[in-house]
Amino acid sequence: MASIITDMQVFNDNYIPPRLIVRAEEADRIVWRIVNKILKSGNLLDLTMIYGQIGRVGIGKTTLARYSALKASEELKARGVRLRYAMVNAYGAPSLIDILSAVVNSLGLRIPVRGASFIETMKSLTDYLMIKDEYLLIILDEFQGILLSNKISADDLYRLLRVYEEVPASDGISRIGYILVANDVRALAYMREKIPQVESQIDFMLHLRAYSSYDLYRILEQRAELGLAHDSYSPYVLEMIADRYGEDKGGEGSARKAIKALQRAAERAEMRGSPRIEEDDVRHALAQDSYASVDLRLLRGLDTHMLLVLYALARATGRRGGWVQTSLLRAEYESASETFGERPRRHTQFYEYINTLSRLGLIEKGAEKGKMGRVRLAPEIPVDVLLEVLDHILIDRMSG
Ligand SMILES: Nc1ncnc2c1ncn2[C@@H]1O[C@H](COP(=O)(O)OP(=O)(O)O)[C@@H](O)[C@H]1O
Ligand SMILES: [Mg+2]
Repeated sequence: MASIITDMQVFNDNYIPPRLIVRAEEADRIVWRIVNKILKSGNLLDLTMIYGQIGRVGIGKTTLARYSALKASEELKARGVRLRYAMVNAYGAPSLIDILSAVVNSLGLRIPVRGASFIETMKSLTDYLMIKDEYLLIILDEFQGILLSNKISADDLYRLLRVYEEVPASDGISRIGYILVANDVRALAYMREKIPQVESQIDFMLHLRAYSSYDLYRILEQRAELGLAHDSYSPYVLEMIADRYGEDKGGEGSARKAIKALQRAAERAEMRGSPRIEEDDVRHALAQDSYASVDLRLLRGLDTHMLLVLYALARATGRRGGWVQTSLLRAEYESASETFGERPRRHTQFYEYINTLSRLGLIEKGAEKGKMGRVRLAPEIPVDVLLEVLDHILIDRMSG
């Protein structure tokens, strides 16, 4: 089989290119501010906020945050200063404990979180940073999920984001900063409502628009150079994809989709045994997107509890993959309902939702002999995208 893809990893969803060509300026500004603050004041008491264009996903919010954190730590390292960063994805509606556990885990620390009070945990964390002489940048991704969570009070959130007012370090140095990443501008309104003292103290704010076809072209070109065999693609191939998704051309402006399309086109060409990606490979890849992606309009039309069942299934699938026992799905659904402040429906209703979702082609039903039923998310639906979309819709409904 001809080998077109030379580095599969380049097409992974959380791959970060060595240089962020598009949004380089934005990244520079974030990095520069953080580095400067630490070098000039010795403190990292900083709140950066990144939010996206309403209704758009795959536009580089998470990537920009992670890339900037990485670059800031590299930059500081060269000057003998240690900055670590922790990534917390706040899908759903996490509690304060969930967030702290995620921080502590992502740093690989052995600090007790469950069973300890917030202050105790934070004290351990700030002590650790002081002893190690390290700074910490916490990225709270999907921040709107935290703002709208009924499991985290305004007070908790305030204490989290203003750690050093609650738990001053004994050497007087503030070593924790935040990058908040939210879907869109509504997060600011929620903040103003829930934690106005924090909202007014955001140090730096960035609004990210969906990508134009030119942006996407440059992003695709970089991925192609990094992950595809030289001469296996033409500019025309990249252009076709960039034009299909560019916001200026009526597309969604999603880099995620554009990169996936390039990957699929390359895979198809490989399967054909061709050394080059041809136009028809691209056409097939683009056509596939219509059902490989999630039908937003369909989802928006569904009953909230039906969405919660789907959400529960997506979460279970994300953790385990494959088929999920309906009893387990039921438990997952109950917890999802609680998360979004809904009372779970009865069993019979729950099974009806499953039937409807199956009729709509969103899930598949299967039964094992002598066992309870099991279900599976339709195979062409990407779990991460579905979760993101459902999160959007459910949170919208909660606040609306
Ligand atoms: N400026 C960029 N340069 C290179 N790749 C990008 C860029 N922006 C986004 N991507 C890629 O697109 C995909 C989606 O980006 P992501 O940051 O997850 O979007 P969002 O958080 O806005 O939904 C990721 O695979 C990411 O690597
Ligand atoms: Mg993201």
